[in-house]
Amino acid sequence: MNRIMAIVFLAILLAGCRQDRVTDQMKENRVIKDVKAVVVSAHPQASHAGVMILKKGGNAVDAAVATGFALAVCYPAAGNIGGGGFMLIRTSTGDHDLIDFREKAPQAASKDMYLDAGRNVVTGLSTDTHLAAGVPGSVDGMIRIHAKYGRLDFREIIQPSVDLAANGFILTREQASSLNRLAEMFRQKNPDGCAFVKEGQWEQGDTLCQPELSAALERIRDYGREGFYAGLTARLIVDEMKRGNGIITADDLENYSSVFRKPLSSTYRGYDIVTCPPPSAGGIILLQLLGMLEPFSPGEMKFHSPEMIHLIAEAQRRAFADRAKYAGDDDFIEMPVREMLNGNYLKERMASFDPLAATPSSAIEAGDPVNFESQETTHYSVVDEEGNAVAVTTTLNGSYGSGIVVKGAGFLLNNEMDDFSVKPGFPNMYGLTGSLANAIEPEKRMLSSMTPVIVEKEGKLFLVAGSPGGSTIPTSVFQVIINLIDYNMDPRVAVDTGRFHHQWLPDRISIERNSVTAESAGRLQKMGHVLHEVSGLGRVNAVFALQNGLLEGVADKRGDNSASGY
Ligand code: DON
Repeated sequence: MNRIMAIVFLAILLAGCRQDRVTDQMKENRVIKDVKAVVVSAHPQASHAGVMILKKGGNAVDAAVATGFALAVCYPAAGNIGGGGFMLIRTSTGDHDLIDFREKAPQAASKDMYLDAGRNVVTGLSTDTHLAAGVPGSVDGMIRIHAKYGRLDFREIIQPSVDLAANGFILTREQASSLNRLAEMFRQKNPDGCAFVKEGQWEQGDTLCQPELSAALERIRDYGREGFYAGLTARLIVDEMKRGNGIITADDLENYSSVFRKPLSSTYRGYDIVTCPPPSAGGIILLQLLGMLEPFSPGEMKFHSPEMIHLIAEAQRRAFADRAKYAGDDDFIEMPVREMLNGNYLKERMASFDPLAATPSSAIEAGDPVNFESQETTHYSVVDEEGNAVAVTTTLNGSYGSGIVVKGAGFLLNNEMDDFSVKPGFPNMYGLTGSLANAIEPEKRMLSSMTPVIVEKEGKLFLVAGSPGGSTIPTSVFQVIINLIDYNMDPRVAVDTGRFHHQWLPDRISIERNSVTAESAGRLQKMGHVLHEVSGLGRVNAVFALQNGLLEGVADKRGDNSASGY
């Protein structure tokens, strides 16, 4: 008997050692170089969860699904099962695919639902209430993408998140301070309490347990899609809606479906750029910016010189003016996507560019492409040993979404309805205005800026990237691409260097603190630009394919992002 006990003990010990060895071989950091497989996400424990799935023989899609569920636990500000997003895939054989799991407006939603009798927008209704939530898409998206591409059993992929929610995750300093800052909001919106509120202050290193979320994840593990869109979880969502005058019904949940779409693609200086189609405008803006820039030579201008910032800000201004007029869910509206990306149209858009002076936004209207034929989201990037690449951007919209936790199910409801144009010309929480193209209709998807991107050179993987940041997503992704292609920057510098952003309205350039000299700022102001200093723009989590055939994962220095690989 004693011998048997000894053998069992030894076996457990060895298993433990093996686990440690696997962990030891893994590199986890903000930047990791010369690895064969890598996950870069907003939280070290989520990157780790993804890499453990790769180590078990899972492919990049398996790892992305595992990372997505882990982020729903350990990055509740934006990781989610109550929100939505987009996943872009490039298989090792060079095929592309995209799943759109963006939230949809509930069937009872209507164009003027956030207006009062005088047709004024009611403050906070589309951001802070049960009415702010779109029908969640993440769970359906993760399950469908796994069914199409996954290699490991779904239960094995989701189990680490079930455990992480039950046993707790370690709060980073940024998380502890944001939960402390938002404690009163969580208390008010969740009078019966929720996992994010505790007596006293959260500290970095505290363990945050979410037993109700763990049980909700278990139901997804055991019943798949039905474990969220039907049964107990669906009932808890509908009860939550009744409690707060929300409108999502059991039918809305049952009817939700994510959609496979053809990614958008174009070229820039010999590179192939593959990105997100509508209902995100992010991909269109990215490709418009690259198209407008191609006839110019930014690489010959000093990096962040007034000339360079002016040129790019003017292109950004024009792209965002088009977004405001034309962009929406093209399952519902006619959107001239092909025309908006036409090279001649983009040249014409820049014809009014004055190299010496800002063009006021009041003088810029949306173009006429039809005449030309031809503050929280999260992004993670994954590449596996075989070369399959995945770029996922997902969100609840605002930080912690609506702040409302579904009672009994432990997850946050999104406030994505604010991404619709609640009234023509009225700015959303990112200052973006829209038109009828993005008006609310039952079951329509709200316009997004999410921009997962995969760049290739001569048929080979070059870059996998994306970012949070609302309206600043496509401009952040765009700058990383030109930093690499036009300025030949090292990957880490390309991600970390300062950024700037113009979105037509408000008519100003937002510039990260300390990223331009006082002299450059002065010259931009003389050209007629209004400068607006901000602390951070975007958080790009990226993977770069190196010349030696290995990978470099770069997690943006802005935030607690982490690259993990082997
Ligand atoms: O889909 C969108 O464009 C927004 N809901 C994204 C929000 C966001 O990126 C917040 N991040 N900081």
